[in-house]
Amino acid sequence: MPVLEGSVGVEDLVLLEPLEESSLLKNLQLRHEKKEIYTYIGNVVISVNPYQQLPIYGPEFIAKYQDYNFYELKPHIYALANVAYQSLKDRDRDQCILITGESGSGKTEASKLVMSYVAAVCGKGEQVNSVKEQLLLSNPVLEAFGNAKTIRNNNSSRFGKYMDIEFDFKGSPLGGIITNYLLEKSRVVKQLKGERNFHIFYQLLDGADAQLLKALKLERDASGYTYLNREGSRVGGMDDASNFRALQNAMTVIGFSEEEIRQVLEVTAMVLKLGNVELMDEFQANGIAASGIRDGRDLQEIGEMIGLNSEELERALCSRTMETAKEKVVTVLNVVQAQYARDALAKNIYSRLFDWIVNRINESIKVGTGEEKKVMGVLDIYGFEILEDNSFEQFVINYCNEKLQQIFIELTLKEEQEEYKREGIPWSKVDYFDNGIICNLIEHSQRGILAMLDEECLRPGVVSDSTFLAKLNQLFSSHSHYESKVTQNAQRQYDHSMGLSCFRICHYAGKVTYNVTSFIDKNNDLLFRDLSQAMWKARHSLLRSLFPEGNPKQPSLKRPPTAGAQFKSSVATLMKNLYSKNPNYIRCIKPNEHQQQGQFSSELVAVQVRYLGLLENVRVRRAGYAYRQAYKSFLERYRLLSRSTWPHWNGGDREGVEQCLKELSISSEELAFGKTKLFIRSPKTLFYLEEQRRLRLQQLATLIQKIYRGWRCRTHYQQMRKSQILISAWFRGNKQKKHYGKMKRSALLIQAFVRGWKARKNYRKYFRSGAALTLSNFIYRSLAQKFLLNLKNNLPSTKVLDKRWPAAPYKCFNRANQELQQLFHQWKCKKFWDQLSPRQVQVLKEKLRASELFKDKKASYPQSVPIPFRGDYIGLQKNPKLQKLKGKEEGPILVAETVKKVNRGNGKTSARILLLTRGHVILTDSKKSQAKTVIGLDSVAGVSVTSLQDGLFSLHLSETSSVDSKGDFLLVSDHLIELLAKMYQAMLDATQRQLSVTVTEKFSVKFKEGSVLVKVIQGPGSHGNSKLSFKKRGSDCLEVTVQ
Ligand SMILES: Nc1ncnc2c1ncn2[C@@H]1O[C@H](COP(=O)(O)OP(=O)(O)O)[C@@H](O)[C@H]1O
Ligand SMILES: [Mg+2]
Repeated sequence: MPVLEGSVGVEDLVLLEPLEESSLLKNLQLRHEKKEIYTYIGNVVISVNPYQQLPIYGPEFIAKYQDYNFYELKPHIYALANVAYQSLKDRDRDQCILITGESGSGKTEASKLVMSYVAAVCGKGEQVNSVKEQLLLSNPVLEAFGNAKTIRNNNSSRFGKYMDIEFDFKGSPLGGIITNYLLEKSRVVKQLKGERNFHIFYQLLDGADAQLLKALKLERDASGYTYLNREGSRVGGMDDASNFRALQNAMTVIGFSEEEIRQVLEVTAMVLKLGNVELMDEFQANGIAASGIRDGRDLQEIGEMIGLNSEELERALCSRTMETAKEKVVTVLNVVQAQYARDALAKNIYSRLFDWIVNRINESIKVGTGEEKKVMGVLDIYGFEILEDNSFEQFVINYCNEKLQQIFIELTLKEEQEEYKREGIPWSKVDYFDNGIICNLIEHSQRGILAMLDEECLRPGVVSDSTFLAKLNQLFSSHSHYESKVTQNAQRQYDHSMGLSCFRICHYAGKVTYNVTSFIDKNNDLLFRDLSQAMWKARHSLLRSLFPEGNPKQPSLKRPPTAGAQFKSSVATLMKNLYSKNPNYIRCIKPNEHQQQGQFSSELVAVQVRYLGLLENVRVRRAGYAYRQAYKSFLERYRLLSRSTWPHWNGGDREGVEQCLKELSISSEELAFGKTKLFIRSPKTLFYLEEQRRLRLQQLATLIQKIYRGWRCRTHYQQMRKSQILISAWFRGNKQKKHYGKMKRSALLIQAFVRGWKARKNYRKYFRSGAALTLSNFIYRSLAQKFLLNLKNNLPSTKVLDKRWPAAPYKCFNRANQELQQLFHQWKCKKFWDQLSPRQVQVLKEKLRASELFKDKKASYPQSVPIPFRGDYIGLQKNPKLQKLKGKEEGPILVAETVKKVNRGNGKTSARILLLTRGHVILTDSKKSQAKTVIGLDSVAGVSVTSLQDGLFSLHLSETSSVDSKGDFLLVSDHLIELLAKMYQAMLDATQRQLSVTVTEKFSVKFKEGSVLVKVIQGPGSHGNSKLSFKKRGSDCLEVTVQ
């Protein structure tokens, strides 16, 4: 998926606004923070070293970048490699990829990425694969011999490398050529603190097995070698032993024979051992200081290994033969000179070995002539260097970078111009800083600094660095890019940073002060002839071949070219090579000095940005048309902005682009339509397009979202609706089923009724209506008849008191039976009543009265019931005297009996005769014929009786009684019930007043002398006739005990 959306900062600095160093730095920093380490300037890739493994490499990414155009995905080295490779393959243009940057900025890694990309995408097949393998494996071999740990980079390449990879017409690799530049050979004999010698020494000591070590006469312990930095022989994260095995394997794959590998290792071991050859002062007889070997053992071993007499070697180390046309003069060397000679030998052996290895690799990977090939060159060379103390090496390195910058400007502009020409766009020249003047200052064949240096080196007479400097000062005194103490003084400038032995060049990338000390020496790069001859004498074929000038048969007194001249010519070759190709740039930047991930030092990056000329790069790029793109890819990217091209466009690409831009009404000055590409003049227009595209994308995203949401809601709704319909269908079905069930049951019920009714109706004609009723009535009647007849025949006795009655034979007759029983009883009573005489009626009435008064109230009542009331208990008939006592009153004497009157005073009783008439109660003595007391019934207030068995009663008189106010009477009667029942009747008859009868055990009797409270107590064992005993309690209480 194209991922330009959501980019961090700007991905192409051409779009940077405002275009200033600070905004450029900020953009790089922002992107670095977000781990976007690659940024474009047009088609140039800027790479900021992340110092961490990022997940943006590998087969999937390679596949992705293979499928998309340059600007469609995030900036990446793969994109650049893809453009280069495709252009090589499709357009038949040789390519070069120029990777520049400081040490440790990631050049070598970038070159490996390019190679791995190309290896992954180019053709396949056995032959091709083996070429690929050889090309890729040349890296570990070159790294082992040419890389070392420095303070800045644990795997720093100490040489410049240019590798041409050659392809056939299909784009499959055929082979290649590697060119190396300026190995830092001084490292062989001396390293700074914290740095190491070349990896190979440590790999050899660590990785070689004991047998190999013995054959090479080496000890495993690295600290035993003077040329190796004693501290820190190990590098974190680097396994020397396994790297050694990888190296051996790589050499074998590339095609080194076993013998060659052995010889390479022997020469390496020799260099190492040479360092341990210790020189000491010796004096010749004439007192001239000479030198000698302290311990011949190392020298001996070296001699044995390379097949050379050790004395010969010693002689070559400690003396020098000066040869002129006429004579040979041998001079001895003092210790310092001898040490210099020894170190020079070591350095030379090593650097020549390195060259030999490169050549050997080239031999293996070279392509036969005659084949037509396309070339892709990858240049991984040290970048511009400004150190504290800059010497000859920095000078040539910076010269090289100056040349590369020139190439960059020229090619970029040239390419730009060519492109405009190709596309038929009118073009006017752009001004830019041309560093030709600086290149000239250095390389001019007669008046250049390098030429001066060579001249000084070759000049007879006293030659020194200072004479060289003086020459420069003289020659360039008015050069605008040259400065020194002398020129400054001439212009009366004071600059304490400028040393006496220094000169300064204003490079395109900044001013660099060089110290001329040892410029002459380094340029001369002399190896005493004695040494090369000695080496040539050795039987070791490889070593021998490294020193062809040692062959005495071809004595050449001609000096070898100086280092400067060599470098200049190789740079010139390189330039020629590069000019012939289409350049692609990778500009590496180191974000900090500490190899730390996530750190971004703006100052450090600013310096690099300056000397990489990035800002200029952007300016040049923007000078013409800032942006260009093939119609097809432009249309692909922006066609969504126009209605006529979106979503479908059927016309040609160019017409599509024109149509699209017309609709966007972009001014025609801003645009130029080339043959295959569209050119846009200012970045603003591109921003505008990008912004429009962003907005349009949002719109489209919203549209997609809208449609999707609509679709989702709709489907959801439809699903819900379907579910709802299903549920309601089930519900309705269920409801209807239930309803139907109910209806069915009801219908069945109704049917049953109707059928029953019909059946009954049908049956009715077979029976007389009401037959059942008639029948039942009949049966009932016959049962009743039977019952009544039976009753009639077996009537119980007609005695009133006989309550027996037969039970009903059926339950249904129960009420009738009861009714009959009652009727029968009443009938019996009526019959009984009818036969009674008036006297019996009278007696019964009296009995009834007695019952009303005393039933359930007095204990003696039940006994009185069966006994008929006689009325006369004293033989009144026979005693007329007593009859007279009633006086003139009419009517009979109702009761005549003997009662006991209780004396209030002592409780004793005395007999009296009591007569009750219709109007009076008469009390008299039995012997006297005179009435003692006559009480009218109208003056009787009431009587009090007890509930017990006794016959005690008190006759209470009303206050207004006319009786001689003797008070109430307390009497005892044997026929109390009868007496009081009759008195009640008599009083009712006489006065229409009811006699008040009070049943109580405690009543007061008002005597003449006062009231007495009578208390009646039930004594123990009272049966039959009761006996009363009175006891006086105080003056006004009488206790009566019923026995
Ligand atoms: N793209 C990258 N991803 C991760 N680490 C890198 C990358 N480029 C460089 N490095 C780290 O930086 C170190 C130095 O890189 P190198 O290519 O050797 O620098 P140079 O060749 O410029 O001196 C590497 O050893 C590696 O650890
Ligand atoms: Mg490198």
